[in-house]
Amino acid sequence: VFSWTGVNERTFIAVKPDGVQRRRVGEIVQRFEKKGFKLVGFKLMQASKELLREHYWEHRNRPFYNKLVSYMSSGPVVAMVWQGLDVVKTGRKMMGQTNPTNSLPGTFRGDFCVIMGKNVIHGSDSVESAQREISLWFKESELCEREGCSAKWIY
Ligand code: TYD
Ligand code: MG
Repeated sequence: VFSWTGVNERTFIAVKPDGVQRRRVGEIVQRFEKKGFKLVGFKLMQASKELLREHYWEHRNRPFYNKLVSYMSSGPVVAMVWQGLDVVKTGRKMMGQTNPTNSLPGTFRGDFCVIMGKNVIHGSDSVESAQREISLWFKESELCEREGCSAKWIY
């Protein structure tokens, strides 16, 4: 039975349309891999506005909501699921702050972009959000777990 905590914690990460256009998919995947997290889901897709409205439902009354949904549907995104100990919190750290101006060098948003409306990457903000987002973007059958890795520090 799958458990959502400990080394099985999962997060939903998406390279946004500008991230794909900036050719940053490889580097983002590489940094998550280097860190030691496990890739369990990956697809390039054109997200529908319907899916994106649902994804960003918490922001439905914010002034930037419609623009955000339009931008996210303006080109392909890379939707991913990464797994490992504290991957939600660590993933957020690797991303940087929502506004790139506030993001430290070394983070994706600190290194790859300058404006909040085109900030390269999405990552779930809590384990609960991750569960909701993963089930929204992926079917269970699209998630894979690699076998044959016995080193305990590599999940
Ligand atoms: P939010 O969930 O607050 O940020 P994060 O992506 O860091 O979890 O907002 C979702 C996205 O909406 C954010 O990545 C960029 C966009 N956004 C704006 O365009 N303007 C804003 O004022 C905010 C707060 C977000
Ligand atoms: Mg958010």
